[in-house]
Amino acid sequence: MSTPHISANVGDFAETVLMPGDPLRAQYIAENFLDDAVQVTGVRNMYGFTGTYKGKPVSIMGSGMGIPSMSIYARELIVSFGVKNIIRIGTCGGIGSDIKIRDVIFAQGASTDSNVNRARVRGTDFAAIANFDLLLNGVNAAKDLGIDAKVGNVFTTDTFYQADDTFYKDLDKLGVLAVDMETAGLYGVAAEYGAKAMALFTVSDHVITGEATPADERQTTFNEMVKIALESI
Ligand code: HPA
Repeated sequence: MSTPHISANVGDFAETVLMPGDPLRAQYIAENFLDDAVQVTGVRNMYGFTGTYKGKPVSIMGSGMGIPSMSIYARELIVSFGVKNIIRIGTCGGIGSDIKIRDVIFAQGASTDSNVNRARVRGTDFAAIANFDLLLNGVNAAKDLGIDAKVGNVFTTDTFYQADDTFYKDLDKLGVLAVDMETAGLYGVAAEYGAKAMALFTVSDHVITGEATPADERQTTFNEMVKIALESI
């Protein structure tokens, strides 16, 4: 059974799928964190793998960048492959003044400048929120690993390159912690098709201070986040 963007059989995916943006990161997680991982799809090089972590079945698949790409894969995973839980593991741009690069942030809710969630309910402002159980498990897993994660509202934008930082400063005034490009779409799709979703990120850069994580440190912080996500399952 294949969908337009996933070539796999029903049963090839575990009920829980971790989704980094980059398919090569999916491959890296499968090779370094899972036991008995096998590749289950590779359409457009958007790789998906299934294996086990501490004996529990889990899949990892790239989402690509932006709400449209994430929404396509999330919908097909849920509707056609029976996926029940999607955990996005990504990077974000820090917004808040108390947010530092390398911080781990859980997206309790995801505001957006995209129209996708308004389109879901007759133009109303649907509140895109994380599933509480997944969020709680994630926050507890971070605590158990000694990682002081932050939890709150994030902003999912369609526009990576903003004209200036005044937009982010306005979001900061509303307590928005960080910006990404996928989470509001993921939360909307999960709600629409009856799955659970949650997103956590590491802060790769700060959109107001301009600080950025050095390339050689990105892998370390990424590994921390993967550990949190896997331990939370
Ligand atoms: N903007 C949007 N998404 C991001 C950013 C950013 O600055 N950094 C990492 N993901």
